[in-house]
Amino acid sequence: MSCALGKDLLRVLTCGSVDDGKSTLIGRLLYECGSILDDQLSALQRESRRFGTTGDDLDFSLLLDGLEDERQQRITIDVAYRFFATPERAFIVADTPGHKQYTRNMATGASTSELAVILVDARKGVLPQTKRHAFICCLLGIRQIVLAVNKMDLVGFEQRRFDDIAQHFSAFAAELGEVFVAAIPLSARFGDNITELSARMPWYGGATLIEHLHSVDISGGCVKRPFRFPVQWVNRPNGDFRGFSGTVVSGSIAPGDDVLLAGSGQSARLKEIVTFEGTTDRAREGDAVTLTFETDIDIARGDLLADPREPPECVDQFAAHVIWMSDQPLVPGRSYLLKIGTRTVPATVTALKHRIDVETLAHLADRTLGLNEIGFCNLSTAAPVAFDPYTACRDTGAFILIDRLTNETAGAGMIAFGLRRASNIHWQALTVGREQRAALKDQLPAVLWLTGLSGAGKSTIADIVEKKLLALGRHTMLLDGDNVRHGLNRDLGFTDADRVENIRRAGEVAKLMAEAGLIVICSFISPFRAERRMVRELTAPAAFLEVYVDTPLEECMRRDPKGLYAKARAGRLEHFTGLDSPYEPPEASEIRITTVGVTPDTAAEQILEELRARKII
Ligand code: ADX
Repeated sequence: MSCALGKDLLRVLTCGSVDDGKSTLIGRLLYECGSILDDQLSALQRESRRFGTTGDDLDFSLLLDGLEDERQQRITIDVAYRFFATPERAFIVADTPGHKQYTRNMATGASTSELAVILVDARKGVLPQTKRHAFICCLLGIRQIVLAVNKMDLVGFEQRRFDDIAQHFSAFAAELGEVFVAAIPLSARFGDNITELSARMPWYGGATLIEHLHSVDISGGCVKRPFRFPVQWVNRPNGDFRGFSGTVVSGSIAPGDDVLLAGSGQSARLKEIVTFEGTTDRAREGDAVTLTFETDIDIARGDLLADPREPPECVDQFAAHVIWMSDQPLVPGRSYLLKIGTRTVPATVTALKHRIDVETLAHLADRTLGLNEIGFCNLSTAAPVAFDPYTACRDTGAFILIDRLTNETAGAGMIAFGLRRASNIHWQALTVGREQRAALKDQLPAVLWLTGLSGAGKSTIADIVEKKLLALGRHTMLLDGDNVRHGLNRDLGFTDADRVENIRRAGEVAKLMAEAGLIVICSFISPFRAERRMVRELTAPAAFLEVYVDTPLEECMRRDPKGLYAKARAGRLEHFTGLDSPYEPPEASEIRITTVGVTPDTAAEQILEELRARKII
């Protein structure tokens, strides 16, 4: 990766405690690389004389402690990042405090780092926490580890001691899989093997710490990574412009390239890449841009745009490592919100396969995960999500789990692979299919999906449409939100998650009805684009027509046929669509009906006309 200085940028995570000499090491590194300002240096000289534990020498831990104070005033920051550069390379050093939330902080730092410096005290050697650090680093995708064996001065610069520690650690690291370890004997306090080879350890034939940081290869073998772009928001300043904003997290893209809307099978040709400075001819990893397309494509916030030649997977069940970060233990079966990229969906952990003892790497049977524990789980999401395995792409393979009551981040996950239910439950091949059933009725099956605010007129229009179709001798079925909520969905309320489940079930029923060869008319608020699209995909290949019953909120409030708006405004009804619960209007519905000044009969006729035009009737 390159940085603003036009240099190679290496992101380094430091792991260890103050006792291991972590602040001294970082301070020493900044100092020897000329990154300490003059006034900081004179302050350090003064402080070292007064408080230092290092005689006349500079006490670098005081330098960091000074920075530490600064940090403690901004208590929300869990990871401190320090920047420094040498003529060869630029570095961002992530330093995570080791308090109770250490796993969470470490995971945050590690998820963006390419290399970890794990400190050990030469007197103590490899400790359980050393293994814990190495395991978490590895789990989060760090492939380069420097084992910094510090305080060599306190063991008489003895080679045996160093070799033992290095060997002990290597044996452990070998079990972690693909990770490269460089062990370096150091004295951060006296500056041995930091930027200059130590004369006191002539037996050491390797590189100094800084030489190693300069030479380590982080290009990943120059593999070309596929284009990935999680959509942050749909930018629609006026009717003529529709752009999709976000950050390229992998690969690159240029106008003229085909872009896949992951999970939909739809793609469109990229027209323009818009940035703050105007248009550009290529967007690369890390660039925040807005994309426009040659053709209309119904992309929503949370979607993943990708290279159609290397599509991500899209499933609703997968296996993942989960790091638990909450005081409240993980409960398999409980509903959490899963946020992956820019998409958030309800999700449950369906099975905790095992918990991992991070010191022995043993797999343990357990029913739950507590704070800082790590497990391997199966998860199920309310709708399919697009992803890459974490090992292939950190940005599209990582997720967080959010506690739905407290809104806190409860866990972080790294997807290992998608699971396909189909491999356990087989499709029974049936002789009679949708087409035969429909042919008997002499019609084409279809799903008409009416969406819009409460009181928009959906049910009234749907009712008339069905009447008209019946008069034409068509076989129909009408699914109405209110009615279905009396039976099949009687257990659901109006939280976002319940609405998602409401539409999922309604969609499944619509699909079955279409399989029966019927023209299915569905009338649901269905406020979220994601679920409407899910139903569209679910019911395919039956014809799907999204009908947007577009009645302005003020008009719905004026009509208020069920008195619900009045109730909601009086504070007696929560989560009411359009008031304190969102409605996302369709971007590219097949039919849009504006109901103001139009009779329900005319509106119904508009739908029938479209059915005729599409030769469905
Ligand atoms: S959806 O949002 O999950 O698609 P659905 O169409 O099934 O909603 O049900 C909406 C109907 O439930 C409304 O027409 C209204 O009669 C009733 N209702 C009761 N409470 C609410 C609420 N909080 N928000 C919206 N509709 C509500």
